Amino acid sequence: MNRVLKKLESARDLDRITLPLSGFVNRLIPVGKVRDLLHGVPLGHPLHPMLVQVPVGAWLSAVVLDRMPGTGRSATVLIGLGTAAAVPAAASGILDWAKAHESQMRVGVVHWAANAVAVGCFAASFVQRVRGRTAAGKRLALAGLSAATIGGYLGGHLAYRQALGANHVEDIPHVLAEGWHAVAALDELPDEALTRRVVDAVPVLLYREGEKVTALADRCSHLSGPLHEGALDDNPEKGMCVVCPWHGSTFSLQDGSVVHGPATSPQLRFRTRISEGQVEISLAA
Ligand code: FES
Repeated sequence: MNRVLKKLESARDLDRITLPLSGFVNRLIPVGKVRDLLHGVPLGHPLHPMLVQVPVGAWLSAVVLDRMPGTGRSATVLIGLGTAAAVPAAASGILDWAKAHESQMRVGVVHWAANAVAVGCFAASFVQRVRGRTAAGKRLALAGLSAATIGGYLGGHLAYRQALGANHVEDIPHVLAEGWHAVAALDELPDEALTRRVVDAVPVLLYREGEKVTALADRCSHLSGPLHEGALDDNPEKGMCVVCPWHGSTFSLQDGSVVHGPATSPQLRFRTRISEGQVEISLAA
């Protein structure tokens, strides 16, 4: 399987589908509350894995009920419920997918094609059952569950091997030694501009406003984009923010909180102090 998935990750021919499709998806819902909700920003982690529990659980339960006598109506209700619940789950997953690396989008497009087949099979199964064609409904449900299993396997690969949806700054507290670290002389930092320094192999983003310096991890928590190459944005509620150059995640420079996704994990923030003209950082308590 590893070899097959590696080939899928590098199948550049799929870019002819994924690149225009992701561009279309990204234009469909503008940056704002709805998009952030579907990414899972208020939750602090992606919404999609939570939403898929409902269709997968309902469909699997229906297929089990199909093996038991006198449970036809319950199975039909579960299939209807699962198919309806697949719609928000798909919406949230497709939005996440459209803000991914190209290799992730290649795997992702097959993941959601398999899931689209599953939804089609279960929708058809529901219709057949309502029309009284139970045997056909059961066969379609089995086909749908097989497609959903392939989709789930690829979803696992996306999340755990390719780290789509993971927090890409989680390792920093384990890498950076405790205590204060000198990162730069205050007077060598440009005012009201983003600067990058490296401490213990950890890239750090610095932003100076006069005598005050704020510091965040420079690797974006979404997919490791270089925040120092991003843009500054003065947000009316959150103050000065940095916008990631790769997929537009926006983080408050004051506390690292996510102002807009696709990132759902806050950006790691360091404590700062000035000591004898040197800017020092340490892990926040
Ligand atoms: S790497 Fe995707 S928004 Fe920063």
